[in-house]
Amino acid sequence: MEQRSVEVLRLSPEETAALKTGPNLICKETGNSFIIYKDATDPKEPYKACRNICKHQGGTFVKDVEDSASRVLRCTKHGWKLDASTMKYVNPPDSFTQERLVPELDEEGTGLTLMELTPPEPWRKDARPPQAIKLGEVQLTFMAHACMELKLGDKVMIFDPWLTGPAFARGWWLLHEPPADWLKRLSCADLIYISHVHSDHLSYPTLALLSERNPNIPIYVGDTSMPVFCKLEQSGVKLNCINVCSFGVWQEINDDLRFMILMDGVHPDMDTCILIDYKGHLILNTVDCTQPNGGRLPKNVDIMMSDFAGGASGFPMTFVKGRYTEEWKAKFIATERKKLLYYKTQVVRDVNPKLYCPFAGYFVEAHPADKYILDTNTKNQADQLNALINKYSDQIITWTPKPGATLDLALIANNSVNRRLAIVDPPPGTKIYKDSWDFDFYIEKINKSIGSDIFAYPDWIPFYYQWAGFRNYNLVLRMVETDDDFEPVEGGYDFLVDFLDLTFPKHRPAREHAYLQIKNRIGVHRQTVLKGLFWDDLYIGFQNRLSRDPDTFHYKFWNHMQILLPQNPPDWDGFLREQMHDGKPARAVWKPSANSKSIVSRMRTILLQGKFLLVPGIVAFLATSIAYVILSING
Ligand code: FES
Repeated sequence: MEQRSVEVLRLSPEETAALKTGPNLICKETGNSFIIYKDATDPKEPYKACRNICKHQGGTFVKDVEDSASRVLRCTKHGWKLDASTMKYVNPPDSFTQERLVPELDEEGTGLTLMELTPPEPWRKDARPPQAIKLGEVQLTFMAHACMELKLGDKVMIFDPWLTGPAFARGWWLLHEPPADWLKRLSCADLIYISHVHSDHLSYPTLALLSERNPNIPIYVGDTSMPVFCKLEQSGVKLNCINVCSFGVWQEINDDLRFMILMDGVHPDMDTCILIDYKGHLILNTVDCTQPNGGRLPKNVDIMMSDFAGGASGFPMTFVKGRYTEEWKAKFIATERKKLLYYKTQVVRDVNPKLYCPFAGYFVEAHPADKYILDTNTKNQADQLNALINKYSDQIITWTPKPGATLDLALIANNSVNRRLAIVDPPPGTKIYKDSWDFDFYIEKINKSIGSDIFAYPDWIPFYYQWAGFRNYNLVLRMVETDDDFEPVEGGYDFLVDFLDLTFPKHRPAREHAYLQIKNRIGVHRQTVLKGLFWDDLYIGFQNRLSRDPDTFHYKFWNHMQILLPQNPPDWDGFLREQMHDGKPARAVWKPSANSKSIVSRMRTILLQGKFLLVPGIVAFLATSIAYVILSING
């Protein structure tokens, strides 16, 4: 993507002379603030500069009173810390680096200018004036969560189809009942856009059904360093037409329709968003991006959609001990959600669309075992955000979508009509919310991993962690396998990993170290290990409980386990061959409790799979029954 060098701040000679040694916070106009770090003792680089925008969620830095050296700034939103002398974040440690601006002194060497290497606004290239469109020519239909169907002339495009099954293992379930004909609509679409790898956007249960009907459907994804479909082969789903698009380049579909995929400024390795241009009318979907296109977005688009809800993380609800009391968590969540509401409001107001639709937040922790999360992980309501947007910008039409509801762009784009008429809700009596989910079907699938042969050999632990490849970090992890209530299961694994030298000690080492304890539900844990999945299912899917000492977010560790794991799963066949060849003793694989319905079903499945046991079992059963009947008659 082309870049331009743009002047973003100019200081007069007087203002430049007034800069103090250390960090200076400069704000000459609202919404445009900067950090300039001055060190006159460094002749090579007397100034370092960046925008005063926190990489987490766009907060603002202030001086940190706890920092005696006066180099560190603290974000007022959630307390992340930036060392202005290095432009690196010190909290979370080993995490982000702030994008630097280029300081330039004028010819006299007295006035300072800050230049920014700006990603271009690629939609400006070949911009097209909006043409008139007819009623019904462009129509959006909300399906569920982040899934929207767009009729764009004679083409149909669908975003992020999560329309059946759970996401994040068994932690997230659809809140809405998608339209009854969703599968037909999906398989007849001309294009599908999948924004990123998270399973509420890339839903393999949905794609599996789609591929049975139309494996050649064209699917478009961004060219992220972590490929969206890195687990496609392993999933067993057959999709034959996946198009990986460069960022910021128009994909020309026909004379009227084109779109470009844009990257996220905070997570460019995995998050994307999309801009559609139909006859010069722009539809922007920023999906889950924290800083879509580095924060530079087209203004005055016709339609904008984005996430809004929050709650898409295990933090802090799955954390225990220390400060994580119920009271602290409730307060934290309330504050967080409020900040997110105001942040989203600001972004929407900056873009100033004709219509805004909050989506991509309609999930529910529906499984009864997750009632605690359901009760405590409160999310923003779409209506709340819409009301806040309208409080400041009543010209923006807001849409809280119901499944099957439609929006007609011709009415939104037309200044002379009542734009509210563009939205048509589904007919009365349409089922809006789901009231049942197929828990057993999906959980049994997950729990099949429990009985895998690899877990009969404790050496799976070093084999797996060597495959994962995270080391040289002073962190000791204790992993405990548990039941649904996070109680250790008898015969489940409970082990330590020392990531400094990647060893597996029996006791915690004597040296000072960070300690992280994770209790994982055994089924999801074993599926994650067996398939070499990212740890999102465990963490974002609320399938664990965590405690840490000290209470620090180990960015490097989590980033590795959530994004940087090898794309191919561990070679478990090779592992088993080695174990058997070496004659290693196998230990009993964990036996499930008899009173769990899904576990009972699992055992039945295992028995059915063990056909060699089934035949003698039936014979023995029949023999016993016949003997019993004979004895009863004779008695
Ligand atoms: S810590 Fe800065 S926005 Fe969250």
